[in-house]
Parts: sequence; C-alpha cells; structure tokens
Amino acid sequence: MGRVKLKFVAIFIAGTCGFATAAATAEDGSENDGQLMFNNYCRTCHTTEAGDNRLGPNLNGIIGRKAGGAQGFGYSSALESADFEWTAEKLDQFIADPELVVPGNNMKPYSGIGDGAVRAAIVSHLKNK
Ligand code: HEC
Repeated sequence: MGRVKLKFVAIFIAGTCGFATAAATAEDGSENDGQLMFNNYCRTCHTTEAGDNRLGPNLNGIIGRKAGGAQGFGYSSALESADFEWTAEKLDQFIADPELVVPGNNMKPYSGIGDGAVRAAIVSHLKNK
C-alpha cells in the first residue's frame, strides 16, 4: 500500500514540475501560455474574432494590420490618425507602455505589462490569430 501511495505522489510532483517548466518557456511563445496570458490581460476588452469589437477593437490579424484599422470601431483620434502598421515589435512596445507608442490613446484602464516573457507570449499568440 505504502509503495502505491508513494508512486502517486511522485507522479503528482512530476506533473507539477512539468507545469512549472511550461510557464518558464513562455518566452518561446508556447501557445497555451499565450492564450492564458491573453485571457488574463486582454480578453476583458478584446477578442481575436474578425468584426467582434467590444470595449476595444477586435485583434484579428492585428500583426500587419493598419493601426486604427478595425472596421466599425470608434477609435480615439490618437489611434485614428496613427500612421503605421502593427509589427510584433510595435505590439510588444504598445503593451509595455501604450502611451509611449500612441500618445493620447484611449486604451484605459490598462497599466502596461513589465514582464517581457509575458508580452512575448501574448504577441506570439496574436501572430496566429
Ligand atoms: C480596459 C480595456 C482594455 C484592455 C485590458 C486592453 N485593451 Fe487594447 N485597447 C482598448 C481600447 C479601448 C483600444 C482603443 C484605444 C483608442 O482608440 O485609442 C485598444 C486598442 C488596442 C490596440 C490597437 C488596435 C488597432 O486596431 O490599432 C491593440 C493592438 C491592443 N489594444 C492590444 C491589446 C492587448 C494585446 C492587450 C492585452 C495585453 C490589451 N490591448 C488590453 C482596450 C483595452
């Protein structure tokens, strides 16, 4: 009996370590982490479905899309008049500090993500959407 229980505990610990490793590789853009981080930090206001604008514009195909380019969304004049296309790098900078990339934007309340690994996971997730 004792042995069986010990084996169970060992499997449990191994499973937990596996989870920790997955979290640590967020920088590689592991898709599960990206989805999770997107849910945590962005989904309150954004979806990745085309045409599905909420409090924020939909982020479908955001990488390569023109800034302020979601049909039917009422942007701030700052984002409306922004003249660039979203690249992975721009997106990373924007979610680190929106004000630095598009001064006067209305993505609020949002306080920025300081953790580069978390940002990388989100950006990588959005590349596939
Ligand atoms: C509190 C709501 C809220 C949260 C949370 C939020 N956003 Fe936004 N986001 C907005 C709003 C509102 C706008 C439009 C801002 C404007 O018009 O100035 C916006 C704009 C954007 C844009 C510009 C889109 C375009 O069409 O040019 C990107 C990119 C973006 N958000 C990405 C994100 C990501 C990624 C996250 C999570 C890390 C996030 N946002 C979290 C509300 C939010």
